Amino acid sequence: MHANITLLPGDGIGPEVVAAGLAVLNQIATRFEHSFDYHEALIGGAAIDATGNPLPDESLARCRSADAILLGAVGGPKWSDPNAPVRPEQGLLKLRRELGLFANLRPVTVHPDLMDLAPVKSDRLVGVNLLVVRELTGGIYFGEKRRDGDVAFDGCSYSVQEVERVVRLAARLAGQRSKRLTQVDKANVLETSRLWRQVTTRVLAEEFPEITLEHQLVDSMAMHLIAKPAAYDVIVTENLFGDILTDEAALLAGSLGLLPSASLGDGGPGLYEPIHGSAPDIAGQDKANPIGTILSVAMMLRWSLKLEAEAAAIETAVASVLSAGLRTADIAAGGAALGTEAMTAAIVAAL
Ligand code: IPM
Ligand code: MG
Repeated sequence: MHANITLLPGDGIGPEVVAAGLAVLNQIATRFEHSFDYHEALIGGAAIDATGNPLPDESLARCRSADAILLGAVGGPKWSDPNAPVRPEQGLLKLRRELGLFANLRPVTVHPDLMDLAPVKSDRLVGVNLLVVRELTGGIYFGEKRRDGDVAFDGCSYSVQEVERVVRLAARLAGQRSKRLTQVDKANVLETSRLWRQVTTRVLAEEFPEITLEHQLVDSMAMHLIAKPAAYDVIVTENLFGDILTDEAALLAGSLGLLPSASLGDGGPGLYEPIHGSAPDIAGQDKANPIGTILSVAMMLRWSLKLEAEAAAIETAVASVLSAGLRTADIAAGGAALGTEAMTAAIVAAL
């Protein structure tokens, strides 16, 4: 097949991990006889430096016209002055919103050889296979923000329709897996959470009677994720709770550097990015773990390009290099570590 892919390297380690993703895409194109066209565009701090705008119109247009988008990371100390008029993160938030990417899929699995890295007893990690579906274009991230003298305000709102569409997607995915869905909120305190609970209960009863629905409060979910992570399958939750719980869940896998994500809307291009940030402390040193981005490429092939065999080939290649004992610094536990490029080369070779 032929596909147009927009690359958004961004800041910090972003360019290094996107280069790794590109190497894997090229290997897939060769092995499976596809042709991918790439267009690189600016986002985040790099875009602020070049244009003053964290998401220039030209970048947004490049994303709209693509079949899929691969993003590295945005942000860094250079642009994090709280008084700055624009921030790199605004570019990413605007991109998610403009493209209507309301569902962020964050799968968490644990490679058996990495279980010792997690700060959780290994026996609890057996059978962990989570899919967190995070709402991505609503809630407190996009509410009204203002300052009145000494008081700061962040508004949080959700509409019935915003909850329905992400819950439907999560329920469909649960139907293809264990047929269990856990909805996470703070319904004992927040009105938006009570709406989430009502809407989820109704949608599941009316449209997905075969799915078992469970509700959890976010504070106790934070505890259960560590205490009994294998007890959960698909988790659906609002934007902020999903942001927090997925960094926590990443610890189960052994490193934030391993985890991919897909952001999807109603048709249109999907956005694929590792869940880690720009890691400015190791940027430009060939130390970043490329696996989160490489697994995001697998998700791109699966969800946007419908190339399931190719996606599975990448996942198999990643698992095989980990089984062979290859490690980047974040997962080396003090032992020998490969750089970003060498790890990428090993995965490409396995492909
Ligand atoms: C993520 C990140 C972003 C978020 C930041 C960079 C705005 O933490 O993708 O999880 O909070 O959504
Ligand atoms: Mg986050």
